[in-house]
Amino acid sequence: MYLTHLSLTNFRNFARLDLDIPRRVVLLVGSNAQGKTSFLEAVYFLAAFTSFQTHVDRQLVNFIEAKKPLAVGRLVAEYRRGPSAHRLEVRLVLEPVGVNGQRLRKEILLDGVKRPLAEVIGHFNAVIFVPQMTQIIEGGPEERRRYLNLALAQTFPSYAQTLNEYSQALTQRNALLKMLNERGGDQSQLAFWDETITRNGASIILARITAVQEIEKLAARVHHSLTRQQEVLRLNYLPAYDPLPHPERQIAMPLNTPLDRSMLTLEEIQQGFLQRLQEARSEEIARGVTTLGPHRDELRFQANGIDLSDYGSRGQVRTALLALKLAEIEWMKARTGQWPVLLLDEMLAELDTQRRADLLAYLENIEQALLTTTDLKSFSPEFVEKAEKWEVESGTVRVMGRGQKRKDAEKD
Ligand SMILES: Nc1ncnc2c1ncn2[C@@H]1O[C@H](COP(=O)(O)OP(=O)(O)OP(=O)(O)O)[C@@H](O)[C@H]1O
Ligand SMILES: [Mg+2]
Repeated sequence: MYLTHLSLTNFRNFARLDLDIPRRVVLLVGSNAQGKTSFLEAVYFLAAFTSFQTHVDRQLVNFIEAKKPLAVGRLVAEYRRGPSAHRLEVRLVLEPVGVNGQRLRKEILLDGVKRPLAEVIGHFNAVIFVPQMTQIIEGGPEERRRYLNLALAQTFPSYAQTLNEYSQALTQRNALLKMLNERGGDQSQLAFWDETITRNGASIILARITAVQEIEKLAARVHHSLTRQQEVLRLNYLPAYDPLPHPERQIAMPLNTPLDRSMLTLEEIQQGFLQRLQEARSEEIARGVTTLGPHRDELRFQANGIDLSDYGSRGQVRTALLALKLAEIEWMKARTGQWPVLLLDEMLAELDTQRRADLLAYLENIEQALLTTTDLKSFSPEFVEKAEKWEVESGTVRVMGRGQKRKDAEKD
């Protein structure tokens, strides 16, 4: 799939932007603080409905506009998905509440019809790669869960909805556990939440098992070639509730031995999970919190058996991440039948010459890629020649080269 047009109103430093986008590689060039990352953030927001930079959607609305009692930020993507054309619009409405407060409401319209997020996610897909994403490997487990959730929500149709229901049930269940801990009461009230948590939790676990296994295969192949056959990458999914039985001999196995969970069925996972929750009930009441489930899952990255979060060098982490991202694109294409739009923010500066060349060669495969840079010289002249080039300056985008041509034409 690919974008054909993007309109932004009061999004970050773009007060107003209206732009046709070609189906190829686009280079966004500009000095610092002009809006390059914000542009990619807008496109990604239309795919994930969340930013990779902030959890606070309010920050996305132009801050001068946001001072008004009622402010609206608006993003509109026109795109082609296979043979059909679509229009996706997101409105970030900041409206007044109470005396001096403001509340943000998110409205999503697909082809002119208002729809809930969980129904629309996955219709327009994008994969983003920014330098700070090394946090996926170097940061805490919540970064890796977020990574999995965002990739899965775009790819598996009901994942976002399931995750939503799981999170809401988790909040309710934790409140109930806390109440039982503080005031005592009828424990059988937990049964309803246990059922909701394990039903949704089992779907999440199964989706993660499948996704990690498929992405790992693709990532390992890319990684092998990026490291010139020197390193083998492994993705090790460690569910907090692990549906695999743990006989003694498995506990003694080294960490990098693959555990195959792909034979498990949804029902088996739910049954096992429910049983474990029941076994853990008194402990959970004592702690007033749900201790098991996908909200505590972990995913580890290993190269040649070495855990990259703990021991990876900067270069190893970057290479693993590049492999992961390229695998994610392939995986989405395989799963959805569509290439996601690829967004690369300042990635070239982070890579050595060989990996840079590998990445640029890879771009030939996909339908559309938007890349930012402060310096066109970081690309080869041939690459620059072939790409569409835009200059980003103070929240405006100018197509480079055309202005010059127009002037020449006027002379004739
Ligand atoms: N809500 C907002 N409203 C208006 N301006 C904003 C908002 N949020 C961020 N900005 C500003 O937008 C500008 C562009 O930021 P952006 O991160 O897109 O720059 P960039 O071109 O990627 O720069 P760099 O090369 O430094 O990464 C910055 O000056 C930033 O302070
Ligand atoms: Mg930037």
